Amino acid sequence: MNILIIGTGYVGTTTGLVFCEMGHKVTGLDLDHSKLESLRAGKLHFYEPGLEDLLRKHLHGENITFTPEYEKAIKENDVIFICVGTPQLHDGNADLSYVKNAAESIGENLDSYKVIVSKSTVPVGTSEMIQQWIKAKLKGEFTFDVVSNPEFLREGSALKDALKPDRIVIGTSSQKANGIMKNLYKNFICEIVETTPNTSEMIKYAANSFLALKISYINELARLCDVLDIKIKDISRGIGLDHRIGLNFLNAGIGFGGSCFPKDVNALIKTSKDKQVNLSILERALEVNKTQTDFFYQQIRNSIGNLNGKTIVIAGLAFKSNTDDIRQSPSFALIENLLKDKAIVHVHDPVVKLERPELKQFNTVEEAAYQADALIICTEWDVYQQLNWMKIKTLMRQPYIFDGRNILDKEIIKNLGFYYKGVSQ
Ligand code: UDX
Repeated sequence: MNILIIGTGYVGTTTGLVFCEMGHKVTGLDLDHSKLESLRAGKLHFYEPGLEDLLRKHLHGENITFTPEYEKAIKENDVIFICVGTPQLHDGNADLSYVKNAAESIGENLDSYKVIVSKSTVPVGTSEMIQQWIKAKLKGEFTFDVVSNPEFLREGSALKDALKPDRIVIGTSSQKANGIMKNLYKNFICEIVETTPNTSEMIKYAANSFLALKISYINELARLCDVLDIKIKDISRGIGLDHRIGLNFLNAGIGFGGSCFPKDVNALIKTSKDKQVNLSILERALEVNKTQTDFFYQQIRNSIGNLNGKTIVIAGLAFKSNTDDIRQSPSFALIENLLKDKAIVHVHDPVVKLERPELKQFNTVEEAAYQADALIICTEWDVYQQLNWMKIKTLMRQPYIFDGRNILDKEIIKNLGFYYKGVSQ
């Protein structure tokens, strides 16, 4: 099949390349010429492990091409995926302007039956709106169907998640479109949930909100365990082995971030408010998330005292490992607190490069730790587990480690002579 992907961000690019792997021909469309140039040259404009190799493979095999031109791209493709961003508006709603632009451009250029697939995370009812936006721009009596087919890709493991999804959700009221979608996904080995567009859109929000809830639950529980001198990791394992609970998404830390969880939970809360339904459990999950970083910061302050003039290392800027995404990263909440308390902030991240003159960025943790009074691990990068901590101790002015992701072995680190504090460990 010939597939058009509108939007070449991490979702669009990953989805397109995975369809190439499944034997389809893919066109990636984006209005940003610098992104197109980079993709055509086999370079990703974002960091995602494994994806660049796949991009080069399929460029070489001529399975994927990139274009800014709607007209030709729509004519030449059978299935059109909308994979544009839906950032959060001030009122908590998702901004649908990019989706609307894409839908209108599809309408203006439609010349035969196509399946239009909404992969972007959009509020319930958006598929219906996409239908209207396309219809309003049609230049003839052309037919089309709209399908909701949300993605569940995690940044950092997007390729793995896309190649081996837990499930595929297809939301459409058209049997014809449903058949085309099932055919498109026929080489994937997983359950397919066939449902309505509204249910499909809700599944995406419900999934992300549930995961966010799970993290906030374990984070709040960690605060109690800390007082009771119980290791939260033992609790996560002890409860997670119960299949009804599951081991995933029970890592306590300094809070969730990224482009999805905070935005999607907010959007679902906004929908519930608009419909006069109380989703207080999600409001609480966001509140716990916000205060989790403050809670950890307070523990740092309690341990070191006055931070004025102290040199503090922030190890990890990305909102999680294996990505260069810093959106809603808890590292920055900590950085703002440190700056307010007049600390000197040294930062390190294996992939993120910042342009902030008030922060000193270093290429290695060792350099960042030189004459530092404390080091805070904010991102669970593997490289931080493999550091020569003995050497780092000799470099630091004061050997304080605050492990906001619980990635280090407390006993080993303490035996090296560090003061160590994790999140309830
Ligand atoms: C998420 C969803 O997992 C994915 O299905 C959806 O399509 C997009 O949003 P992503 O935001 O890329 O993916 O990352 P994810 O791995 O879900 O982590 C989100 C945040 O939760 C990160 O800040 C991470 O550090 C935090 N987290 C995750 C925890 O604090 N503890 C955990 O146990 C798991």
